[in-house]
Amino acid sequence: MKYKNIVILTGAGISAESGIDTFRAEGGLWENYPVEQVATPEGYAKDPDLVHHFYNLRRAALKTVTPNPAHEALAHLETGLVKSGGCLTLITQNVDDLHERGGSKDVIHMHGILTSMLCAVCEHRWEHYDDTQANMPCPACSVQNLCRPDIVWFGEMPYHMRRIESALAACDLFVSIGTSGAVYPAAGFVQMARGFNKATLELNLESSQGSHYFQENRLGPASSLVPQWVDEVLK
Ligand code: APR
Repeated sequence: MKYKNIVILTGAGISAESGIDTFRAEGGLWENYPVEQVATPEGYAKDPDLVHHFYNLRRAALKTVTPNPAHEALAHLETGLVKSGGCLTLITQNVDDLHERGGSKDVIHMHGILTSMLCAVCEHRWEHYDDTQANMPCPACSVQNLCRPDIVWFGEMPYHMRRIESALAACDLFVSIGTSGAVYPAAGFVQMARGFNKATLELNLESSQGSHYFQENRLGPASSLVPQWVDEVLK
């Protein structure tokens, strides 16, 4: 096997063929809901009901979708690498749970996940699959009005950055799948990987804002590109 220690970053493109809207496409999520209203601390302070409504729609939509062959191929890759003494670090910017449902065991949700809630007072986190309201009480400290979706909003620090930087420093290959390269710090992982002299590969439907930073680019839908590439790696 040429690569035993691989870091993968996924974005909305990997879940697009499962039926989850991407953010920046025509008619994408940010066109219908202004980002500053539903994905910033300021937006939440101004209109918490709108923000809960936005994430309730997203959470409900999870129940109508299933993982596609790209998610499943990455789960297969994880198992294959572990069997051969290697390791996969799977980082996603997605707040859906399709990697987990596709079989991946260890997923880093750097932008949080829809199925988790967070109390802004005591920092208790809990799994939650149904609708939420602004006035719901925290199950741990009982304080009302300060429970929010466990999502990293614009202006907030993404989760697990130390683990991600260590994984990039230790890997043989960094792969980016289905992301526009528009949002930092994730958009900068390719430069970080290059700085550590790692091989880099992009799999995306079309050229992204960061395509030129990658040593290799493959264009096409994730549901066929990813399984093909995984077969090559595990060969
Ligand atoms: N297969 C592969 N790539 C695809 C597919 C597909 N079937 N469909 C779309 N894409 C690509 C698009 O070409 C685009 O480059 O996926 C990318 C999606 O880009 P965005 O909508 O910008 O989503 P993403 O890169 O995940 O956004 C990053 O921005 O708004 C924030 O927090 C949000 O996590 C998100 C972050």
